[in-house]
Amino acid sequence: MGKDVIVACDFNTAEETLRFLNNFTEEKPYVKIGMELFYAEGPEIVREIKRRGHKIFLDLKLHDIPNTVKKAMSVLSRLDVDMCNLHAAGTVAMMEAAMEGLTRSDGSRPLLIAVTQLTSTDQERMERDLLINEPLEKVVMHYAFNARAAGLDGVVCSPLESPAVHETCGKEFLTVTPGVRFDDGDKGDQVRVTTPEKAKELGSDYIVVGRPITQAENPVAAYRRCVEEFVD
Ligand code: C5P
Repeated sequence: MGKDVIVACDFNTAEETLRFLNNFTEEKPYVKIGMELFYAEGPEIVREIKRRGHKIFLDLKLHDIPNTVKKAMSVLSRLDVDMCNLHAAGTVAMMEAAMEGLTRSDGSRPLLIAVTQLTSTDQERMERDLLINEPLEKVVMHYAFNARAAGLDGVVCSPLESPAVHETCGKEFLTVTPGVRFDDGDKGDQVRVTTPEKAKELGSDYIVVGRPITQAENPVAAYRRCVEEFVD
């Protein structure tokens, strides 16, 4: 599976998103569309970005009863996205149903990636609000293991967790990793960050990069710098 840089297009209008993507005249970056843009603009923005030749990671983090997730995944697979995701907390049964829904009649399907514990959840919140009393790292690995058992392709995690995920679930199991910043860049609200180069060293398969590219004075140069550090 090829390593790639996924640009998080965290905008809330199609206009802003397409204006941003118009900066890229030579390359077609892999694009992440999240809830904000999808809820604002609907499936048409996915179709439009696909028409422009980009690969798409649709980050909608599904979590519901297995039958509902299966049907929703079937709709998403018709949108021709390349990667989508769900919450591993929905159980193995939900993840298996998602895989069924996602698989097209010709056997092809988008990659399916699980969110383990959100990075906004810390040990204290997990124990207090979710009544999960195991160490957070153990919970993350358990969810990753479940995702693999359900036949998923990988997990969203910190680059710092990539080595442990690969050790637990195998080298082929994908790690899709946000929390990436340049050495000389602003961290924003991300706490545990790594550079694209470090993410490569740690074995991440895809890095998800938002503000260091979208807010850069020269987004194309920032994107190219990510590719140089992470892919080349
Ligand atoms: O701007 P920044 O590079 O921080 O954007 C990272 C992207 O990855 C955002 O779209 C954010 O929602 C997403 N993300 C994350 N941490 C997770 C899961 C997703 O930062 N654990």
